[in-house]
Amino acid sequence: MKKIFQILLLVCAGLFLNSCYYDKFSDEIIVVVPDIPDSQVIHFTADIQPIFTSKCIGCHDSSNKINMTVGNSYNQLVPNYVIAGNADNSILYNNLPGKNHPIQVSASNEPSIDQLALLKAWINQGAKNN
Ligand code: HEC
Repeated sequence: MKKIFQILLLVCAGLFLNSCYYDKFSDEIIVVVPDIPDSQVIHFTADIQPIFTSKCIGCHDSSNKINMTVGNSYNQLVPNYVIAGNADNSILYNNLPGKNHPIQVSASNEPSIDQLALLKAWINQGAKNN
């Protein structure tokens, strides 16, 4: 009888120890985009357009067959891809390379964290053509 209890105890201890073993940590990397204070006004021509010109235009160019709509001019972005004041619900902000962009692009075509912060702040400040 005593032996049965000892075996049971061992089994329970085994189950208990096993339950503490986690090997499934998420591989997902969560990027925390810093908030830029409203006092720092973001300008479309000085801050936003250069991001498109350097990183996106290679594909998103009106002369390029794969995409005629997303581009680096204000009218190609707003309002089709941008909800002024609401970056989190804007197609542009949610589908950037490195986020849910329809195709994988090279790392050099992904916006940096600082550029993500600028894009987010520009949209949340009203996506002005400034
Ligand atoms: C290697 C080529 C390539 C590069 C570089 C690229 N894109 Fe794209 N992008 C595509 C393709 C292809 C599609 C899908 C076709 C379409 O939506 O017209 C697309 C679609 C999109 C969409 C539309 C998503 C939707 O759901 O409608 C957005 C927004 C976008 N790209 C933003 C960007 C931005 C911003 C950059 C630069 C930071 C960029 N892309 C760089 C090829 C590229």
